[in-house]
Amino acid sequence: MKYIILLLFIQKCVSFDVPKSACKTDLTIDKDHYNVTKTYNVDDAYPTDAHYDSYGNLFFVEYGRNLNGYYFNIKVIKDNTTEAQNISGLPDGESYSIAVDRKETKVYFGTSKGIFVYKYESNEATLVSSPDFKLNMIFIDKDGNKYITDSPNDTEELYLLAGGKKIRYRSFEALNEMAIDEKNNFYYIKEDKLFVLKSNISKAIFIGNVSYEGFAQISFYEEIIYVASETLSYIHENDSGPLKLVKNIPGKVTAIAFDCYGNFILGTFGKIFKYEANNNECYHRKS
Ligand SMILES: *[C@@H]1O[C@H](CO)[C@@H](O)[C@H](O)[C@H]1NC(C)=O
Ligand SMILES: *[C@@H]1O[C@H](CO)[C@@H](O)[C@H](O)[C@H]1NC(C)=O
Ligand SMILES: *[C@@H]1O[C@H](CO)[C@@H](O)[C@H](O)[C@H]1NC(C)=O
Ligand SMILES: *[C@@H]1O[C@H](CO)[C@@H](O)[C@H](O)[C@H]1NC(C)=O
Ligand SMILES: *[C@@H]1O[C@H](CO)[C@@H](O)[C@H](O)[C@H]1NC(C)=O
Ligand SMILES: *[C@@H]1O[C@H](CO)[C@@H](O)[C@H](O)[C@H]1NC(C)=O
Ligand SMILES: *[C@@H]1O[C@H](CO)[C@@H](O)[C@H](O)[C@H]1NC(C)=O
Repeated sequence: MKYIILLLFIQKCVSFDVPKSACKTDLTIDKDHYNVTKTYNVDDAYPTDAHYDSYGNLFFVEYGRNLNGYYFNIKVIKDNTTEAQNISGLPDGESYSIAVDRKETKVYFGTSKGIFVYKYESNEATLVSSPDFKLNMIFIDKDGNKYITDSPNDTEELYLLAGGKKIRYRSFEALNEMAIDEKNNFYYIKEDKLFVLKSNISKAIFIGNVSYEGFAQISFYEEIIYVASETLSYIHENDSGPLKLVKNIPGKVTAIAFDCYGNFILGTFGKIFKYEANNNECYHRKS
């Protein structure tokens, strides 16, 4: 009798997720399951600073080494194509930063020869600054404001661009990577640490430790911050840390970018993998 009651109790109160037999998933983040749906080749180079525009085109920087030394070239994988293409008009080997203006649906490139804008019709880039304008990285916030970093001396300076003028915004010692989220908060990596500079607070907040070996990308989807820096880690914007690690990544990751559906790419040496979510097919609820 006791035994039966206990069984009934279990039957009623316990429910758990059971993987369907033969269900495979390439990567899991919290409860979301993703499979690799496409793989793109990136010569013998590291993909970095990847960004989707509003049309599903993926722009990224290819960082590699040839007989002349290190080079940075910006390429595009157009929506529904399988090959990365060159963008004509950009300085060969010296094009190293990408920013998408979602408000104006424009894509900007930071290079050794100034700032360029992408021309969709002709797949070429045209200069929109003076050709001797110096910058390291370019960013655009949700309101369409442009920022650049430059290191005139030893420290990295962040400037706001306004009417062709550079307005000093903040100084960083040893800045490695930076990204601006949908709420205009600045997230950055400095000396293996992730910080945030909230739009309404002047002091930076330490979030957690991350590995950093020369390539990394910070990206956002909904309220989660992702850091691809060899490992892939993430944290909810309201959490205090530490960051959580994603298992089963395809190698040392150097790039991450989300499209507007929440699907994303991960970049590793020589390859870019597209992951798409599939939450309904893999698990079913058993009670
Ligand atoms: C991932 O792909 C495998 C086949 O390769 C399939 O069996 C599985 O259902 C897929 N999983 C998801 C979460 O889409
Ligand atoms: C890409 O393919 C998808 C699905 O096949 C389609 O819905 C979409 O319109 C295509 N996009 C372009 C730009 O052709
Ligand atoms: C793309 O650009 C690279 C570097 O400038 C060059 O080596 C390569 O031949 C170009 N590829 C095409 C298809 O034009
Ligand atoms: C760089 O250093 C020089 C000399 O110390 C100084 O005059 C200049 O203001 C500095 N530039 C910036 C942007 O900090
Ligand atoms: C900054 O904004 C956040 C979110 O809106 C809020 O929780 C916080 O109290 C604000 N901080 C200050 C110093 O205004
Ligand atoms: C971050 O790493 C430092 C050592 O570099 C360590 O002292 C500190 O406790 C770590 N912080 C967290 C939150 O893990
Ligand atoms: C995170 O914090 C923001 C602002 O304080 C709040 O609006 C939001 O609901 C919070 N999100 C979660 C998931 O707790």
